[in-house]
Amino acid sequence: MTDEKKPQQNKEQEENMTLTTRQGHPVHDNQNVRTVGSRGPTTLENYQFLEKITHFDRERVPERVVHARGAGAHGVFTAYGKAGDEPVSKYTRAKLFQEEGKETPVFVRFSSVIHGGHSPETLRDPRGFATKFYTEDGNWDLVGNNLKIFFIRDAIKFPDMVHAFKPDPITNVQSMERFFDFVSLSPEATHMITFLFSPWGIPANYRQMQGSGVNTYKWVNAEGEAVLVKYHWEPLKQGIKNLTQKEANEIQSTNFNHATLDLYEAIERGDYPEWELCVQIMEDGEHPELDFDPLDDTKLWPPDQFPFLPVGKMTLNRNPEDYFTEVEQAAFGTGVLVDGLDFSDDKMLQGRTFSYSDTQRHRVGANYLQLPINAAKTHVATNQTGGQMQYKVDRAPGQNPHVNYEPSSLGGLKEAPKSGKDHEPEYNAKLVRAPIDRPNNFGQAGETYRSFEDWERDELIANLVDALSQCKSDIQERMIDYFTQADADYGRRVAEGLASAKPEDAVSGQANPHKAVEQSEEKGK
Ligand code: HEM
Repeated sequence: MTDEKKPQQNKEQEENMTLTTRQGHPVHDNQNVRTVGSRGPTTLENYQFLEKITHFDRERVPERVVHARGAGAHGVFTAYGKAGDEPVSKYTRAKLFQEEGKETPVFVRFSSVIHGGHSPETLRDPRGFATKFYTEDGNWDLVGNNLKIFFIRDAIKFPDMVHAFKPDPITNVQSMERFFDFVSLSPEATHMITFLFSPWGIPANYRQMQGSGVNTYKWVNAEGEAVLVKYHWEPLKQGIKNLTQKEANEIQSTNFNHATLDLYEAIERGDYPEWELCVQIMEDGEHPELDFDPLDDTKLWPPDQFPFLPVGKMTLNRNPEDYFTEVEQAAFGTGVLVDGLDFSDDKMLQGRTFSYSDTQRHRVGANYLQLPINAAKTHVATNQTGGQMQYKVDRAPGQNPHVNYEPSSLGGLKEAPKSGKDHEPEYNAKLVRAPIDRPNNFGQAGETYRSFEDWERDELIANLVDALSQCKSDIQERMIDYFTQADADYGRRVAEGLASAKPEDAVSGQANPHKAVEQSEEKGK
């Protein structure tokens, strides 16, 4: 660089560093508001101050109604071109999976579920594992959790479940009595409770945990033939690690951000976490030979019958530049699928699919899909227009700008050609409100209990006794009955533990809710 160029460049740099308002006005004094005399009242025409303070007043959007606390990272998904030994095209025509080595950029947000935006990351709670794939066919969101199953199987129960698990509406403190009141009247939750109160209920951090789509989806091939599919993320080099309650308590006493920091620091030092994406595949259908319904998300698909087939690998290699812009405003939803991926009739999946984009229109705004973190990185051209915060028109380069409707003969957008045969499931049934057949609420809970190592079972029993000792006896009895139906030893050990437990011994950090509940009962008399 010649010396003459330097002053010019420095001047430009200096200009670029100048503080401005959002209107582009240089700010000459950021220390003093305009007042009538140095001690007098502040004047209202002080635009610079008003812009600054009113924006500050609006710095927060509503936090997510669930999964409020989270951390995110960017990365890449690399396809294997195969599902196990078969070409992946046998099952799906989704382009991102087809060629070995094909790379698709991704953004992942990990989260805890129940508590607010700055709650400790050591709590016993499922962890969210949501992945946005920016594919050439538009975005695909795989919105999963660390555990492979869920508490309930019908979306209509979700708001009640979340209310019972979240803090009490009066004390604003989570109560194990409210939690287990709901659970003890929802026998389908027994399997998930068995995982959640074992060490699998507190992953050590976000890197060393599994992920799962939980719900059943479909894959559709070029012929329009569908299979049922479940997705699983398996950590590669970093492995899996969980915490006992005692280990979690120790971390929480000094650090309630450990999982966010762990992810951020690993990526900063170039120790990029990796997961393999595996699928389990089942023929489309009801599968009467199974003792559970493949659309029931409280069940595992036994891996000996439905093996894990690796389809690709994900590496997270870049931290967000700004938490709010990328992590907080990220919006994932189960409805966001690409060609070759489809919904199943899983009742939870269908309820979820409405809920996500609905809440995001409220939480982030009507034009949330125009934000860079949510926008597809491919051709986007719609006739959707207006709404709060629209800042561009999704117009195709050759589009007649006067035509924001379709069909048109005046140069508007056109429908895309089909990329394969449609998958067209047939229905012939009454419209009803009915539970599924084969609920089998306890069988797999027992299998999971027996599959644990001794120390995991010991932890499970201790954690359940700890939590249930804070509940009324009828709740305890219903839970013992469920555990006994799952496995006689399981029920016996919880019952024995409760018989000798005292609520004041509780170590889970949950306040004893008896007093608050009793007080409100008194008031209601
Ligand atoms: C977040 C609804 C079940 C995983 C959310 C949000 C809602 C919601 C409203 C907030 C989204 C936002 O503000 O952007 C529901 C409903 C469910 C359900 C109605 C059941 C009917 C599940 C299940 C899983 C799950 C079974 C696991 C597979 C997640 C994750 C997030 C989330 C990971 C956080 C996404 C992010 O990081 O932004 N859910 N959910 N949810 N849900 Fe669900």
